[in-house]
Amino acid sequence: MKKINIAIDGPAGAGKSTVAKKVASALGYIYIDTGAMYRALAWKALHSNVDIQDGKALSSLLESTNVELVYSIEGNRIFVDNQEVTDDIRSSEVTASVSAVSAHAGVREQMVKKQQNLASNKGSVLDGRDIGTTVLPHAELKIFLTASVEERAKRRHYENVEKGRSSDLQMIMEDIQLRDSKDSSRKISPLVKAADAVEIDSTSNSAEDVAERICTLAEERIRMK
Ligand code: DC
Repeated sequence: MKKINIAIDGPAGAGKSTVAKKVASALGYIYIDTGAMYRALAWKALHSNVDIQDGKALSSLLESTNVELVYSIEGNRIFVDNQEVTDDIRSSEVTASVSAVSAHAGVREQMVKKQQNLASNKGSVLDGRDIGTTVLPHAELKIFLTASVEERAKRRHYENVEKGRSSDLQMIMEDIQLRDSKDSSRKISPLVKAADAVEIDSTSNSAEDVAERICTLAEERIRMK
């Protein structure tokens, strides 16, 4: 069976990773969490005392850092220089720094190349902010996944509670609004819907329903190939 690449973009907390994992597993594809790659660099910068506003320093830090994604049923396990940081990159410190880290041109250039290499064999589902516009502009299927700010904040909050992390719904809502604004207004590869992306609002749809819809669209695109 022919394989395609699927790009899933959208704002923080829209359910991209949950949906992308489900789609990848249903189609037997590889899931690539590109946000985790930026988080891994933010984690390394915080641990190496590198200024997150200094694009040059971050670019050279990334050049000398080995960021590895290992696929598992639960999602991607992330390693930085062979140390597992899968949970650490979800900390509030990393979350608060990652938008600044990902705004630098030199950082994005290297990350985009890495992501294009990972997806070069087709059969991949990538989620992020610029996949359909910059990383894989020729992806056969592009999805722009959205949900209301309130719904996105509630989902993050319940996920934190479930995992035993401390959580404040109001603070999450403010963080999401701030990240949306930073990710959408940055100069390089801002979060925008690709002209040929299918927009899906997940506010009142379950991840299962959204994943099923994407799989149906994927099957259509595979048949068209
Ligand atoms: O999806 P996430 O919340 O784990 O992403 C973390 C940050 O990385 C997010 O604030 C924006 C940035 N990001 C990006 O700029 N481009 C991507 N392709 C993926 C994430």
